[in-house]
Amino acid sequence: MRDFDTVRQFLTGSGIFAFFDAPWAPIFLAIIFLLHPMLGFIALAGGGVLLALAFANNAVTRKPLEAAGRISSALSGAIDSSMRNAEVIEAMGMFQNFRHRWAARQGDVLRLQAQAADRAGVIMGLTKYTRLLLQTAMLGGGAWLAIHEQMSAGCIIASSVLMGRALAPVEQAIGIWKQFLGARVAYRRLNGLLAATTGAAGRSNPPRPAGAISADGIRATPPGRATPSLSDLTFELGSGQVLGIIGPSGAGKSTLARLLVGAWRPDAGTVRFDGSDIQSWDAEARGTFVGYLPQDVELFDSTIAENIARFGTLDGEAIVAAARRADVHELILRLPQGYDTSIGRGGSALSGGQRQRIGLARAVFGNPAIVVLDEPNSNLDDDGEAALVHAVSQMKATGTTVVIISHRPSILSATDQIMVLEAGRIRLIGDRAEVLAAVTRSVITAGERAADQPTGNQIDPARQNAAATRDRLASGPGHFEQQAV
Ligand SMILES: Nc1ncnc2c1ncn2[C@@H]1O[C@H](COP(=O)(O)OP(=O)(O)OP(=O)(O)O)[C@@H](O)[C@H]1O
Ligand SMILES: [Mg+2]
Repeated sequence: MRDFDTVRQFLTGSGIFAFFDAPWAPIFLAIIFLLHPMLGFIALAGGGVLLALAFANNAVTRKPLEAAGRISSALSGAIDSSMRNAEVIEAMGMFQNFRHRWAARQGDVLRLQAQAADRAGVIMGLTKYTRLLLQTAMLGGGAWLAIHEQMSAGCIIASSVLMGRALAPVEQAIGIWKQFLGARVAYRRLNGLLAATTGAAGRSNPPRPAGAISADGIRATPPGRATPSLSDLTFELGSGQVLGIIGPSGAGKSTLARLLVGAWRPDAGTVRFDGSDIQSWDAEARGTFVGYLPQDVELFDSTIAENIARFGTLDGEAIVAAARRADVHELILRLPQGYDTSIGRGGSALSGGQRQRIGLARAVFGNPAIVVLDEPNSNLDDDGEAALVHAVSQMKATGTTVVIISHRPSILSATDQIMVLEAGRIRLIGDRAEVLAAVTRSVITAGERAADQPTGNQIDPARQNAAATRDRLASGPGHFEQQAV
């Protein structure tokens, strides 16, 4: 937002006029030449010196100013995130450490800015000196020509005024160079951000899809990272099917969720709904067919009703219907102001479980054809989990395609297929029973391997773990956990 403001301020400020005035300079110069060639040469030489000074100004101030801009933008990002995580900072006594880090980096910004300002000051001084010298030379030259009766006294004044107008843009450009560079850095950063996070502006407005999803060789690299967190992923999901995704932390599950809903664009490959590339759809239109519950729910500071309605028209019936589908209607009615309860910044007035259930209502609002839920039960109690399972089976009954990232056996029991992701690739995908059986088998084998290692007289933790895993699995395939996959 700050970058956007910087660009806007530059474009609407007075400095920009220097760039519009510049094309007139040659015309003024030509008129001076017409008045007398000697004066023309003086003005031309002066213009050359000023232009050289402008380039010198760019050369000596660009690096420190760009570096200062980069650090200061990173700092404002860091401040935003520390405000969001203020409780963690307070609880674990991290305040002084944050303050020192901030002060050190802010010091760098000030030092770089001062360095650029010093250099620009010298150039500015030289520019003023050149201007005065030129003005004097012009008047002196004019007077000499008048004495020799080659020019009238009026022309002396005219040529001096014309030169002032011709050279003003150069001088102005030096004055606003700092703003210009700042705006340029901000503009580049905005462009980079837009290219990294969104597709090209929406194009087609397709009808509601039936809900078939396919991914064809997709690869994704999170913004600011060099290595992809998902590579070469290909799978298909029929309309109305429910897919569960499991895999260790950092496997790329949330990355896949973002690609499937179009929040991120793949570096390579294509995600399709009903066989058509989702990047070719208008993003707003696509959003009405899609429900998404991100891993950290991301509610907005407003009422529950507005959050569920995705900040669109407040259609009471549709909102209550969504809340009922997510089984959260009664819970909302128990809150002090029901649907009008204000949820505070990031949903801070709600418990983690409440946030997640309201996020689920938002995801199913308007009966989307495709719903992607990223760890929707990480904060839920038994009731919440039962409500979630119920909501998923209801969606399945109405033909909604659902993708759920979760490790809980209860919710996985509602899936048709399961995908096991590992290090950004699909390790297994297929019918739920088959995949669960394969996963269970691999856990037992790994456990036995550890249990069979001779370890002397010492008690081996691996051996204990393996034995415990075996006991747990003996009670049914539903108990595997993240590390087991
Ligand atoms: N916004 C981001 N910026 C930078 N790196 C990211 C971002 N999101 C994900 N990553 C990186 O991509 C990789 C995959 O992350 P992802 O969140 O998809 O994993 P995950 O399987 O959902 O893990 P978890 O079970 O912990 O939620 C990780 O190495 C992570 O560091
Ligand atoms: Mg995740």
